[in-house]
This record gives sequence, structure tokens and C-alpha cells, in this order.
Amino acid sequence: MIVCVCRRVSDREIARHARAGMGFDEIQFELGVATQCGRCEGCARDVVAQCQSSHPVAALHNTAVCTPSACACAG
Ligand code: FES
Repeated sequence: MIVCVCRRVSDREIARHARAGMGFDEIQFELGVATQCGRCEGCARDVVAQCQSSHPVAALHNTAVCTPSACACAG
């Protein structure tokens, strides 16, 4: 699922970086997520937070991370 429409960054890309130990700011710098319109920031932060929790695999399959009213997700 695309989280950041402006930069075409998926939740899987964000999750992969988060599981590698990167924080939101590092991921933002690396992928460019939430650097244009900013509507995806909350969603992207949620993905990072879930990956840093005790159940990182569940975050990859949680399609309820984003809601249309909360971010600009395409899916
Ligand atoms: S900056 Fe991510 S959707 Fe616009």
C-alpha cells in the first residue's frame, strides 16, 4: 500500500527501514516520505511505531493503519 503518494513510498518500504532500526526522521530523510504535502506523516509515523512495537510482523499486514480521512493513502 502506498503511504506517501507524493514520493510513492509504500508501507513496506517504511516498515523495512523501521525494522532496520531507523527512526521516523531517518526514514523521512532516506525515503523522502512526508516531505512534500505532509498529509502522509501521521500514517507514516504509525507504520514506524508499529514496527518498533513487540509485534513487527503484524504491522506489515495491518491495513487499518491508514484511513482516507487521516492521510492521502491510495489503498
Ligand atoms: S508528502 Fe506524502 S502524501 Fe504528500
